[in-house]
Order: sequence, then C-alpha cells, then structure tokens
Amino acid sequence: MLRVSSFAISIDGYAAGPNQDLDNPLGVRGPELMEWFFSTRAWRKMHGLSEGETGVDNSIAEAGLAGIGAWILGRNMFGPVRGPWPDESWKGWWGEEPPYHVPVFVLTHHARAPIPMKGGTTFNFVTGGIHEALERARAAAGAKDIRLGGGVATIRQYLREGLIDELHLAMRPVLLGAGEHLLHDIDLRALGYECTKSVPGERATHVYLRRRP
Ligand SMILES: NC(=O)c1ccc[n+]([C@@H]2O[C@H](COP(=O)([O-])OP(=O)(O)OC[C@H]3O[C@@H](n4cnc5c(N)ncnc54)[C@H](OP(=O)(O)O)[C@@H]3O)[C@@H](O)[C@H]2O)c1
Repeated sequence: MLRVSSFAISIDGYAAGPNQDLDNPLGVRGPELMEWFFSTRAWRKMHGLSEGETGVDNSIAEAGLAGIGAWILGRNMFGPVRGPWPDESWKGWWGEEPPYHVPVFVLTHHARAPIPMKGGTTFNFVTGGIHEALERARAAAGAKDIRLGGGVATIRQYLREGLIDELHLAMRPVLLGAGEHLLHDIDLRALGYECTKSVPGERATHVYLRRRP
C-alpha cells in the first residue's frame, strides 16, 4: 500500500509555509503545522529523546510509522539545496542517523550517487519520475507499506495519478495565510477519494481519505 501518514495541513489548506531555507525547513510559520507532533512520544523517539505524550495524537503518529518498508520524498523535503548539487556535503536535515531506517527514494531532476547512512537509511536519488520512484520503492519494501513522506509538490503528483491508497491528514486549527497549498485544483472526489474516518486528537483532527476500490 502507498500511504501518506501524519501529513499536517492548516485550516486554509497549506501543508508548508513559504520561503523554505536552512533556518526554516518547514517554511516560515511551518512549525505551527507540526505542533501536534512535536510533543508526542513518537516524535521524541525518532529524535533520540525519551518520554513524550502518549494520547490520541501519539497513537496515530506511531501507527503511521509502523510497517513501512520504504519511503518516497521530494527533493525539498530532503533539503534546501536547489539546482545541480554543488557538492556531496548535504545529507538531509536529520544528521548521521536519519529516522527512516529503510531505503528512501528522493525525487529530483539532479542525479546523485546513493548515500548510505547510519541505522539502515539509504538515500537513493530518482530522476525518472514518480512511477520509477514507486517501482523502486515497491521492490525495496516487499510486503510492507511505502510511505510517501512529502512534501507538497510530490504528494500532489501522486494524488493526481490516483496512486495513493490512503491519505491521513492531521488538520491543525491554524491559519498559515501563504505557503504550499496541498489540494488546490485537485478534484479528489472525481479521482475516487472519499473521507472514511475522522478522529479528534489533542492538537489536530485526523482525517483519513481512501480511494474507492
Ligand atoms: N505538512 C507536513 O506534514 C509536511 C511533511 C513533509 C514535508 N513538509 C514540507 O513540505 C515542503 C517541501 O515540499 P515542496 O512542495 O516544496 O517540495 P517537495 O515535494 O519536497 O520537492 C519538490 C522537488 O522535488 C523534485 N521533484 C518532485 N517531483 C519530481 C519528479 N516527478 N521528477 C523529478 N524531480 C521531482 C524537484 O526538485 P529538483 O527539480 O530541484 O530536483 C522538485 O522541485 C517543506 O517545507 C517540508 O518541510 C510538510
């Protein structure tokens, strides 16, 4: 199954703030989207920290991380570097041991050799488009799920092709005003998606969309 999990969205439809750079990985005001996640045990464990909240938001975040055999990311979620890679120094936002622990396929127009990291993550760069990334992720994941991590431009492409089986949005009661809009001009209804579940959490409302079989 190809799924998007724990993807945060503001009430005005943005899933990233504007002007992403090294100091603003989520774009300006982007952290307001993620405030439901930062205090959870799931997030803290991913970052090598102990404890954390264990309520509804946490259970949902933990479920989103279970059973994944491969990830697909867009190049901007991997980092702020644009255009041809100036050198091999950028290895993601997450330090020497990224929180993936499985193969990760990064969509880009700029080829680069795979980067093996500590803890089982390998960043593979895919220049052949979304279908090639999905085929490679399927081969790597075997019977496990593939998680489409984002960002926004990447999810929009897979949605338009009807390739996402389940989309879980963590809807945050904040207004971003500007940034990357997730669903503008995409008719999910015509693509066959429907809301199947809505769960109130402590800091977000969790909405699940599935494509009718
Ligand atoms: N709301 C959330 O829960 C959440 C989760 C994850 C990320 N985010 C945020 O989302 C933002 C990033 O999203 P984004 O929309 O800016 O970008 P993105 O989807 O991460 O990456 C877009 C870039 O990926 C490459 N790419 C995408 N599709 C491609 C294709 N078919 N073929 C070749 N290359 C392709 C292109 O890079 P090149 O042309 O430069 O190679 C493109 O500019 C970040 O701010 C991140 O923090 C939010």
